[in-house]
Amino acid sequence: MLNIFKSKKEYNENFELDMNNIPNHIAIIMDGNGRWAKEQNLPRSMGHKAGVETIRRILKEATRLGVKNLTLYAFSTENWGRPKDEVGTLMKLLVSYLKKELKECHENGVKMNVLGDMTKLPKECQQALESALETTKNNTKINMNFALNYGGRDEIVRAIKLISSDIKSSKIKEEDINEELVEKYLYTKGIPDPDLIIRPSGEQRLSNFLLWQCAYSEFWYSNINWPDFKEVDLRRAIADYQNRDRRFGRVK
Ligand code: FPP
Repeated sequence: MLNIFKSKKEYNENFELDMNNIPNHIAIIMDGNGRWAKEQNLPRSMGHKAGVETIRRILKEATRLGVKNLTLYAFSTENWGRPKDEVGTLMKLLVSYLKKELKECHENGVKMNVLGDMTKLPKECQQALESALETTKNNTKINMNFALNYGGRDEIVRAIKLISSDIKSSKIKEEDINEELVEKYLYTKGIPDPDLIIRPSGEQRLSNFLLWQCAYSEFWYSNINWPDFKEVDLRRAIADYQNRDRRFGRVK
């Protein structure tokens, strides 16, 4: 057991993390940027900008703790319905994040992935993403998956279409369909299901995130808005996860 918290006074807490039971895959619904900005009398765009800073910090902390997969819900299929300038801000932030952080991420063994249909994103985003994916493709320290233009239902519909098309072309047979096969048709192919899903900002819903994959995920909610989410909050979520009794539908 490693006590990594003793010296932190700001939260006046002291808990231990079992370094042998760090969740392999943590997925985060980064929520509360707008509310954070409102509280500070700032435009919503500043909330998203502050949210990017949190991504930098949490990626570092997750890597340090040995998390192998970190998935961030950055832009949903429903987010296209936001005002045009907000959508534009989010896309620009993505491009500037990738330009600024790619080198450091690469040096630190981060492999970047995208979950979602990238082809609907602005060209500039696609190019920045393609370059990031290509540069980091052989890295193995941590997978950072950006859910972009991602929706859980959309992902399932897409999988059904791909499966039917492969049946039609005799690539697979109807009898081959099982859970394992379906997983191969999802954006998360090859990525283990999330062990822990974190949602800050006080909302307690899934919002079309990883619907198939979260069958046995543990959920952790917090009232903190994403821009205020700190390393200690990640550790707190993990500590709480470590106290859960995961039975996967069985008895222990
Ligand atoms: C939810 O907050 C947040 C989003 C919809 C976008 C999250 C995106 C980022 C943090 C930046 C994107 C950049 C990169 C690098 C991927 P909200 O706007 O719904 O907040 P509110 O519910 O308080 O209004």
